[in-house]
Amino acid sequence: MSSSPVVEVSGIRKTYGSTVAVDDVSFEVQEGEIFGLIGPNGAGKTTTMECVEGLRRPDAGRIGVFGLDPIADARALQTRIGVQFQQAELQKRIKVREAVELWASLYDTPVDAARLLDQLGLTEKRDARFMTLSGGQKQRLFIALALINDPELVFLDELTTGLDPQARRAIWELVRDIKHRGKTVFLTTHLMEEAERLCDRVAIIEHGRIVDHDSPDGLIARHCPQRRIVVATSHAGAADAFGRLAPVDGVATEGDELTVTGQGDDLVTAVIHAISEHRMQVTAFRTENPTLEDVFLTLTGHSIRD
Ligand SMILES: Nc1ncnc2c1ncn2[C@@H]1O[C@H](COP(=O)(O)OP(=O)(O)O)[C@@H](O)[C@H]1O
Ligand SMILES: [Mg+2]
Repeated sequence: MSSSPVVEVSGIRKTYGSTVAVDDVSFEVQEGEIFGLIGPNGAGKTTTMECVEGLRRPDAGRIGVFGLDPIADARALQTRIGVQFQQAELQKRIKVREAVELWASLYDTPVDAARLLDQLGLTEKRDARFMTLSGGQKQRLFIALALINDPELVFLDELTTGLDPQARRAIWELVRDIKHRGKTVFLTTHLMEEAERLCDRVAIIEHGRIVDHDSPDGLIARHCPQRRIVVATSHAGAADAFGRLAPVDGVATEGDELTVTGQGDDLVTAVIHAISEHRMQVTAFRTENPTLEDVFLTLTGHSIRD
């Protein structure tokens, strides 16, 4: 028997006046996975997450969290879920240690605060005031607060927005750590790279509707199976040689640079064999694999960065 999902969302809808923020959204989050609700700004990610957290009541549809109702059973869920606080909710002058102790006091069985600060790399900053922390340190503190009650399910909304690439990577490691400690993570992001690196499964949301959901690899394989290989060579007949290979769909030539497109696991090997067989002198070679950004473009007809 497979265990039932940690989160079950079925046909939820939420409007603000005439704005339909979330429209017939359904998905499940499985135990122990990192699940991402991903899409551009304004797509309905935060609204959906807040409905699952029990902070907003959907106009229609059903939500189960551990089989409980997020609003009616809020008290029972309080000890089992961890919600990331938003910037505005912390006093500027509060010290890191004080914030953690304050949040710990809200729960009967909080985790060890010192150990938590250590896990999140904040031990040195425990006496620093919130307003003096860097963006990455603030986000680490928010993760610490979300973990204070040792929850089974953690909600993280746009956790790395505004962080530089290095701080972002550090946060990704912390989120992986949360998963490795056996917890389920439900996150939102508009960063496709983040989703691809971090999430076991994602649901793509746009204009309040789920466009598709699967593992990142599964989405890429289904929607963007084509790979590209860029080869720089002045070898005459290179384009013809590549064009004859079975996995190759097409070859585009621009000066000395050939872009070979094709599908399947044999593509790269076939191209390398052809280079060797024809003794081509190659000055550059790179493969370009499709990403979740390409999936988004294919599914919606526009780039997520627009
Ligand atoms: N409190 C609110 N009142 C009115 N409209 C809102 C409110 N919150 C969000 N919206 C609107 O609902 C839509 C979805 O917003 P949101 O859920 O915040 O999306 P995301 O988190 O993906 O950026 C947007 O059009 C947004 O402007
Ligand atoms: Mg949002």
